[in-house]
Amino acid sequence: MQTTINYADRIPNNVNLSDDRALARALERWQPAFLDWWREMGPSGTTDYDVYLRTAVSVEPQGWAQFGYVKMPDYRWGIFLAPVAGGATINFGEHKGEPVWHDVPGEHRANLRRIIVTQGDTEPASVEQQRHLGLTCPSLYDLRNLFQVNVEEGRHLWAMVYLLHRYFGRDGREEAEALLTRRSGDADNPRILGAFNEKTPDWLSLFMFTYFTDRDGKFQLAALAESGFEPLARTTKFMLTEEAHHMFVGESGVARVVQRTCEVMKALGSDDPAKVRAAGAIDLPTVQRYLNFHYSVTIDLFGADQSSNAATFYTAGLKGRFDETKRDDDHRLHDRSYPVLAAADGRLAGHDVPMLNALNEVLRDDFIRDSVAGVGRWNRVVEKAGLPFRLTVPHKAFHRKIGTLAQLRVSPDGRVVSESEWDANAGDWLPSDDDRAFVASLMGRVVEPGKFASWIAPPAVGINRQPANFDYVRFG
Ligand SMILES: [Fe+2]
Ligand SMILES: [Fe+2]
Repeated sequence: MQTTINYADRIPNNVNLSDDRALARALERWQPAFLDWWREMGPSGTTDYDVYLRTAVSVEPQGWAQFGYVKMPDYRWGIFLAPVAGGATINFGEHKGEPVWHDVPGEHRANLRRIIVTQGDTEPASVEQQRHLGLTCPSLYDLRNLFQVNVEEGRHLWAMVYLLHRYFGRDGREEAEALLTRRSGDADNPRILGAFNEKTPDWLSLFMFTYFTDRDGKFQLAALAESGFEPLARTTKFMLTEEAHHMFVGESGVARVVQRTCEVMKALGSDDPAKVRAAGAIDLPTVQRYLNFHYSVTIDLFGADQSSNAATFYTAGLKGRFDETKRDDDHRLHDRSYPVLAAADGRLAGHDVPMLNALNEVLRDDFIRDSVAGVGRWNRVVEKAGLPFRLTVPHKAFHRKIGTLAQLRVSPDGRVVSESEWDANAGDWLPSDDDRAFVASLMGRVVEPGKFASWIAPPAVGINRQPANFDYVRFG
């Protein structure tokens, strides 16, 4: 295991790929198919752009990346595993205390493959969802950040494809090919998970997506970083290093939108959405509706509130909890219970179920706590501006499509409502066609160094401490 990455190989890696010719050849056959996919479904019209990107050069936490101009199709997508994850023994489930697996145990092969394919499928999906956003970027800084996220999602696909090729033989190679043939939003051959078939049509959606949906990625990856299957743990651990920037793009992006809106509201002396819109900013109620949409779609990604698969994955040692080893319990959970929500007499109430079956809900609740913290930071921007508006996350039963709660209509404040009350209010709770058309109308293309669109404030600092007017993208 090298900590520095070998860039002399055709596929950059720190897994001694050159020692395994059969594997290297299989991956080298997949590589042109990946590049074809990137040209077809990656950021549109960007072949000649020089982009100021970071590239991983090491898997050590200190100084792992280097910055420089890269033409995106020449980006060196590679295979990077973190040196060690956790310890040498499995930390949870029925194999707790046994040595970690360096190969796939036969009885867990199908489940592990499914976990890896499901994670792998989200990576190209988000690139597909975001592929037209470069045409409407609010600044060069934001354009560069979009492309950084895109190339790293491409690398995350490589990370999962390496595991499929290396450990799953022919089935794995077939799954790796299928990862390049499904398409986000395609009626016949869609991506596996719902949120990854939604559109990301504008930059407010992108910021909400990277804040909420990339954060789902963080929690899924963190749970897989606990896996008893050591290569999966080490792979996902390094992916988490890259993921932090994606969530930063979302958190700082929404914060800058909110900041700009507050400046406009103060200048106008009004919170009237029509006036805010006329002044070229996004009114806060619209920001709230976008938040409601992305939050609810994202928490569905954690799956059904009760799931025997989740119990199996945990008990078998395949997928742990977030921060598994920091938890003070027996890490087997047979005697534990956990509350899930259901409707009783027209109201939502929690009832206890065996925790092993509720592990999706446990992870969802961890995600919710983490999400709420960032929303609090957005509110501090509004607070500092001296304005009374506050953003909130909706109730977790709001607008759900998966699990017990999918059968209910629930308002953002957590009341079970009738179909007619839902219909009468849905336009206040979720982005309407009019909201989306308005946000779309603001999406011009700003590419003059140091300039920003009317609806977003500049960032506090540049990428890699570059100045405000830095040339993040050069157009060939
Ligand atoms: Fe990713
Ligand atoms: Fe991501």
